[in-house]
Amino acid sequence: TALNIKQETPVDDNNDEPESNNDPDIVEVEDVANSTTEKPNNAAENDVNKVVAPDGKDEVKIKEKTKISVPSNPAVYVPVDRKPEIQEARLKLPILAEEQIIMEKINENHVVLIAGETGSGKTTQVPQFLYEAGYARDGKMIGITEPRRVAAISMAKRVGEELNLSCDDVSYLIRFEGNVTPTTKIKFMTDGVLLKEVQSDFLLNKYSVIILDEAHERSVYTDILMGLLSRVVILRNKRGIPLKLIIMSATLKVEDFTENTRLFKIPPPVIKVESRQFPVTVHFNKRTNPDYLKEAYRKTCKIHTQLPDGGILIFLTGQQEVNTLVSKLRKAFPFRKVNKTIDKPDDQDKEKEDEEDELNLDRVMQKVKKKKKETPLSLPEINLDNYDVAPNDDTEMDILESDEEPDEEDWELEGMKVSNAQPLWVLPLYSVLPSREQAKVFQEPPEGCRLCVVATNVAETSLTIPGVKYVVDSGKVKTKLYDKITGVSGFAITWTSKAAADQRAGRAGRTSPGHCYRLYSSAVFNDEFEGWTVPEMQRRPVDELVLQMKSLGIQRVVNFPFPSSPDLAQLKSAEQRLTYLGALERTPKKKGDDGWVGKLTPLGEAMAKFPVAPRFAKMLCLSHQHNLMEYTITLVAALSIQELLLNDNESQNKSRNKRLCWAGQGNSKLLGDAMVLLRSVGAAEYANSCGKLEEFCSEHKIRLKGIIEARKIRIQLTNEINLLNPELNLPVDPKLKPPTDIQAKLLRQIVLSGMLDQVARKVDEPQESTVKQRPLYHTPLLDETVQVHSSSVLYKEYPEWIVYQEIYQTNKVYLRGITAIEPEWLPVFAKSLCRVGVPMEDPVPRYDPTTGLIYCHVKGTFGRRGWDLPPVEIE
Ligand code: CDP
Ligand code: MG
Repeated sequence: TALNIKQETPVDDNNDEPESNNDPDIVEVEDVANSTTEKPNNAAENDVNKVVAPDGKDEVKIKEKTKISVPSNPAVYVPVDRKPEIQEARLKLPILAEEQIIMEKINENHVVLIAGETGSGKTTQVPQFLYEAGYARDGKMIGITEPRRVAAISMAKRVGEELNLSCDDVSYLIRFEGNVTPTTKIKFMTDGVLLKEVQSDFLLNKYSVIILDEAHERSVYTDILMGLLSRVVILRNKRGIPLKLIIMSATLKVEDFTENTRLFKIPPPVIKVESRQFPVTVHFNKRTNPDYLKEAYRKTCKIHTQLPDGGILIFLTGQQEVNTLVSKLRKAFPFRKVNKTIDKPDDQDKEKEDEEDELNLDRVMQKVKKKKKETPLSLPEINLDNYDVAPNDDTEMDILESDEEPDEEDWELEGMKVSNAQPLWVLPLYSVLPSREQAKVFQEPPEGCRLCVVATNVAETSLTIPGVKYVVDSGKVKTKLYDKITGVSGFAITWTSKAAADQRAGRAGRTSPGHCYRLYSSAVFNDEFEGWTVPEMQRRPVDELVLQMKSLGIQRVVNFPFPSSPDLAQLKSAEQRLTYLGALERTPKKKGDDGWVGKLTPLGEAMAKFPVAPRFAKMLCLSHQHNLMEYTITLVAALSIQELLLNDNESQNKSRNKRLCWAGQGNSKLLGDAMVLLRSVGAAEYANSCGKLEEFCSEHKIRLKGIIEARKIRIQLTNEINLLNPELNLPVDPKLKPPTDIQAKLLRQIVLSGMLDQVARKVDEPQESTVKQRPLYHTPLLDETVQVHSSSVLYKEYPEWIVYQEIYQTNKVYLRGITAIEPEWLPVFAKSLCRVGVPMEDPVPRYDPTTGLIYCHVKGTFGRRGWDLPPVEIE
């Protein structure tokens, strides 16, 4: 194989050998990766020494050591004591009808694909099938990965309930929390967690089966795991410790997995689960209103006031939008206990229900209008004229996820009469919502209320909300985009894919025929929507991925069996950046060498140990030497969080002054935005210790959830560093004093060492300019000049040389996260990008008798643009 995987992981054969001797349900068969050897139906009747291949020709001999456990005897089934109501609900799930075929295929093959509509019961039921079939015996676990934390937590809880087992047995593990115990039998985890486990135990010996759930989402980690596990499965089976790999997808588009012979030599069998999907009528808007939030509000109000019972599910793009619409809807239809008789559907409603299959909103609206004239009980009049969504003219900031409730005044609705409307039970759903809040969507709404869930695309496939009859689809999705070459990034709200839009529509037909209202026209859908969502791996920089893979011993990442590989340009620029950072050896190009073999340097090995982006890992590695570990840990934790500091307009001045004050003077000030982050986390730590974290955050425009997350990363990193270097013995939760001037200077150098490829230099002032103009900067990769973003504390300082954390594009291109540096540091901390020129005569070279070396001054240049460096002394 093209793969060069280190097989260093010791395997303890004694421990993991299945107890086959006296176990009647273990049948020995030939272990051929994914062969379709026929399973002996009954061990007693079959000649266990002979297995007939499907074509009936080949007779394969048994190897002594290879065994596949075939729980063909019902006696091995682990008894489960389910509650009757649970059992009843289970029997309604389409996947239950497929249990036998699924288990047969799993027993016969090492890799199996299960494709079935969301809600067919894959996530909750397949782990139970495996559990009952004995896959969690002998101290082995059933592992299930989820791309989303929400799903890992809520599914573990649900499966535990269904099996009537405690959370000690059915547990979850996500990056910062979990309830796994030594007796855990079924473990739900995020895909990132399992990837970390592969790094310490390549063969995943704890598991008897791994389920990669939601594989259609194509998250980077799930994709890597699939590539790795395709090999692990072969190795495990060669060693006689069988491992099953089950890939579950909510769409039938599985060719990337089955038709990729680099991934699976023999295509794994695909089991399609027919789902009991009711017809969903899709209604397109005639015109596409760019203000989809307003449109969603309007549509939801219409549905709620004019259409028969049934839950409403609304798809928006982000937390802020969700919160905005939730508070808007709650205000319009306040929750109150209602008298049951009021909301009993009247005869006219029944009539409507009868013909709802060809229901069309516009027609219903006409009917309703007619009816309105007849009945004195008129429907609420909605005046949307002064409805404006969180006005924000600073477009560059509109991506911010603030937890702020919008101003009360903005929510006044003139002429809105909602007294007659049934109350609406409005719930938000997004991934960072606390799990207790998330769980509410699975509960029955209070009597007499209509359920309305406002969600991000979490609800698209990961979670099935019961009772949804109407879907309102904005058609939008928020993705972080990067320019693979220049590294320019930004959030973009784009059209989702056709496949995703159809998934969303499908949510309406789970329990009865449903309706999907698309807030865009069919022309837009046909012409502007992509067919499928591009796998995440092909959308983002892969530096961390390349570093992690190299540390697993996979030198040629380009040859790794990804379901769909990142493109060459992406891999190449990642290798290049890692080489600049000093993580990869600079391999001189030989003839015939394609340049893909850069091995990890000792620094690279060290960097790979930290669960953060490579540039941050490098900063951590250097701080050890400078004894600045606690500061760098805090800084890295803060830098890892998206939008820790909020920058909205109204508060800008106040929080700006505070931030300027935090930045201090001298080297502290030059450390710039990094200093502000450091002080924010430090101050938040104090505020927390006096129980005032929340007030502190809202006063200083710091995102509370971001601070909490930063704190967790800080603790995690400290623990990991203490494990790597026990002699450091860092306090886990230190109260940091602001760094001294010397420390701040060293921190500036450390920041440079991690951001060396993001050095920018001020452009000479244009002569003719008389207007007060912000200075412009040149960056290594962009031809155009850029400005420092106004949120930076160095915004008005204009240092000549800076490093930036991010190039950010909105209507203009900005640099964000600025730290000032000194050019004479470049040959030391960014050596890989400096070209040292001719030694200078003046001053005269100096001989150092203690080292025996001659030192002379040289002039050099930096980077692609060949910026002149001040003379430096080198040996
Ligand atoms: O994985 P898949 O989308 O195929 O389905 P699932 O997540 O296993 O969900 C099966 C059913 O269980 C759905 O009808 C969900 O609504 C229901 N469920 C629930 O009622 N409560 C939960 N916490 C999780 C799932
Ligand atoms: Mg699922």
